[in-house]
Formats: sequence, C-alpha cells, structure tokens
Amino acid sequence: AANSVVEPLVGAVDQGTSSTRFLVFNSKTAEVISHHQVEVKLQYPKEGWVEQDPEEILRSVCECIEKTCEKLGQLNVDVSRIKALGVTNQRETTVVWDKVTGEPLSNALVWLDLRTQSTVEALSKEIPANNNFVKAKTGLPLSTYFSAVKLRWLLDNALRVQKAVEEKRALFGTVDSWLIWSLTGGVRGGVHCTDVTNASRTMIFNIHSLQWDPELCDFFGIPMDILPHVRSSSEIYGLVKTGPLEGVPLSGCLGDQSAALVGQMCFRDGQAKNTYGTGCFLLCNTGRKCVASEHGLLTTVAYKLGRDQPANYALEGSVAIAGAVVSWLRDNLGIIKEVGDIEKLARDAGTSYDCYFVPAFSGLYAPYWDPSARGIICGLTQFTNKCHLAFAALEAVCFQTREILDAMNRDCGIPLSHLQVDGGMTSNKVLMQLQADILCIPVVRPCMPETTALGAAMAAGAAEGVGVWRLEDRDADGVPTERFEPQINAEESRCRYATWKKAVMKSIGWVT
Ligand code: G3P
Repeated sequence: AANSVVEPLVGAVDQGTSSTRFLVFNSKTAEVISHHQVEVKLQYPKEGWVEQDPEEILRSVCECIEKTCEKLGQLNVDVSRIKALGVTNQRETTVVWDKVTGEPLSNALVWLDLRTQSTVEALSKEIPANNNFVKAKTGLPLSTYFSAVKLRWLLDNALRVQKAVEEKRALFGTVDSWLIWSLTGGVRGGVHCTDVTNASRTMIFNIHSLQWDPELCDFFGIPMDILPHVRSSSEIYGLVKTGPLEGVPLSGCLGDQSAALVGQMCFRDGQAKNTYGTGCFLLCNTGRKCVASEHGLLTTVAYKLGRDQPANYALEGSVAIAGAVVSWLRDNLGIIKEVGDIEKLARDAGTSYDCYFVPAFSGLYAPYWDPSARGIICGLTQFTNKCHLAFAALEAVCFQTREILDAMNRDCGIPLSHLQVDGGMTSNKVLMQLQADILCIPVVRPCMPETTALGAAMAAGAAEGVGVWRLEDRDADGVPTERFEPQINAEESRCRYATWKKAVMKSIGWVT
C-alpha cells in the first residue's frame, strides 16, 4: 500500500458520440482513481443530418480533465503523478478547421449522418463490379458511415471549408486529430496527426500499406495536403500545452472500438469483444492477417502498439443504433425520464408480446449496408404498452448483435464460445440476460466497465519514452468478470430471431 502512493498514473480521454469522459488509472493495478463525465449534444438540423459542435467537444474534454484533476486534489493525489495521456474517440466523425485561427470551419459531420446518401449512390456507379478497389484497399463498403464522403460533402457545400482549402489554411481530421492538435498547442504549433485505427475508418487509407492512398483521394476528390500524419497507436505525439496536464506526453490514440479491444486484452487471434455505446460494435482480432469478409463485416486496423510494431487487424460488425434507441425513447417519445429507467420497464414487461422494433434510424449497417432502410415497429396490438416497447427496443440491440455474431462465426469458421462485452449499456442486467438468451452462448462482462478508456491508457502508458505500463503484466484471466448464462431453449431463441428477420426485411429499402 505504501508503494501505491507513488505509482505512476495514466489519464485517458474517451470522447464518445453521446458523452465525453476523462479517467485516471493506476498504471500498476489498472484501477480507476478518479473520473468525470460530460454529455455532448447531437444536433439534427434536417432529417437524416447529425452534427456536433467541435468547440463543444473540445470544451467538454477540457472540463472533464479539469474536474477530474480537482477531484484528485480532494483525494490528496498529486496531479504530477500523471505520466501520460491517451485519447480514444468516436470514429469517422469529420472535422475541418482553420490552422491559422484554430476555428472549426463547420459543425462536425457525425458518423450517423445520412446526408451523403446520394453521393454514395453516384460514386458506387463509378466502381467497376469486377474491381471494387475501395473495398480491396480499405476493407470498407462504400457507405455514408465513413469520413471520405462527409469530407467530400463539406468540400462541395461549405463555403468556409472551400476558401480555407484554397488558401491552404484547412486541416481535416477525425475527432482524435482535432483533440490532439488542440491539446498539443493548436495555432501555436499543434501536432496534426491521427493513428492507424482512426485513419482506417476514413475510406482513403490503405490498410495494407498503412498510408493515405493517392488513388482513393483522387476518387473522392480529397486534397492530400489537408490530411493528418498517420502514426501508430502508441508513441509520443507531443506534449500537452494547456490546462492541468501541461507538459504530460500525449502518447496513446485509438478509435474507441479498438481501444475497447485492447482494454479487454483481446490480443490473440480469434478473441473478440462487443461494445454497447451509441451504436454497437463487435470486433474480432485476426492477428497480422487482413481477413476479407464474405458476410457483410468490415476489415479494419485493430491497433499498432508502437512505431516499430506490426499492425493487428480485426473483422468488425458495426450496428449504428444500440444505446441511441434508448435515448430516442427518452427524448422523442418521452416514455422514460432517464436512460437507466428502461431496465425496470423491460423487467416489468418480461416480454415484448411479439412486438418487434427495428431501429434503422441511420439505415442499416452490418451485415446489410442499406442506407435506405428506416426504422419500424411492428406486431402492435391494442394490448401493447410502453413496457413492451421498451423490451422490444432492448431485444433489438440483442438481435442486431446476433446478426453480426452469426456473420463473424461464418467468416471466422470457429464459432465464439462466449461473448465478451463492455460499454455503458452493459450495466443493464435485463439486456445482458436477453443477450445471452438470444445468442445461446454465455455473455461475460468485466466488473470494471470502462474498458475503452483503459485501452487508451494502456497504449499511452506503454509508449516508448513513457514506459509506465507493461502490457504483458496484466493477465486477462485475472480480470474479475460477471457471466450471464442462456436461460431459454435454443428453439425459442431461433423462433424469435426468425421473426426479427421478417421485421428487418420490412425495413429494408424503405426510402425509394
Ligand atoms: O464508429 C462509431 C463508433 O466509434 C462510435 O462509438 O461508443 O460513440 O457508440 P460510440
């Protein structure tokens, strides 16, 4: 215990779609010493459009860091013990800013935004059927989800962006780049970089060469001089130049789903995790191999932990709407006051009474990739009430996970024997039990739920020149977890899943 007083600490910013967090970990025990969380607003200026204010995102990060450091002070923990800072973030969300004034040149276009649907349709026609070079180079299907089409839209439609590009003042980045640039000095020499995991979500990054791809930039009409430098996920990018962490090396950066994979210590081939945030993302580590999916999954960079380390790859099943459906029930229907209230409603119902809810608010991602799908609720009767609807919403999250798990099992050949989960929604025990029932395999949740932030802290603490976190010191088997075993029979599960599929078919192709 005497030793623990001087053990180095590592901070991690977790900038998600719905909230920002800052957590400080003990580098020896991986315990959370202190943390702070702030909600961030999503703006919906038009149907299908989803934006965020990059300044608000940055302010939320600074506020979380300041408040956490104040709390450390109250605990008599010296802030100077923080030896490294990691950043993990919502991926794909696109920011363009002015490097001279430091101002964002438009709102950020959030990954869920659908405005580029027509751009995607037009570009699809230019890709030869027998040579899908975009998929081959990036591992991604052409979709509204990824940054390249969002950036294309800004270049075509945002006058301030166009002017700044012409005047060579514009910088592009995903949220990690915007934060790293701002925290390392901004207009006074901020570092303009990203890591391989975030870059692999832009659709202009070649996941084989690990470099921006000139042919893809040309295809999407993106000037390469506005792109950030691509670095590994664990190395010193620069020093923090502002706030209570001034002077601390910023030395870890991972897209949030990669960070959760690292935080869950899925370092071996075939290890997988599913994170329930705004969306839901199942990643399976495929080691040094880039595995191309034949069942609607993405191939993505999992992590590259050090400049001289090789990259690991992952297969990913992405679901756009998970936690977001609960927020929708709260904000748009008002049937719950707090997102946590859904657990009681669903428990009270115990069933959806054959009501099925497909929350295809942003089209459907994996395995369908249909931007024209829209949400539907079907199977309603006079009897259906809000508890059934709440249950159906949770069940939708579980069915969507089953769809991507099935695809993963088919692509990998070896079915997963259990599912490692994390993320905000996993505190909901009704959801966890339902998930085990619908998958017919055990669901395993770590007792420490902040695995995304933990992954970023591990990458930052282990970086060359920092060296306060030894990745090999922690044993995945030693992490305390809770298990949820399937309680219904496989036949009942199969029947419900079959009805879900019927509902999905009704939502597909809705917008013509
Ligand atoms: O690809 C989008 C993903 O990174 C967003 O994560 O946790 O905000 O749902 P989350």
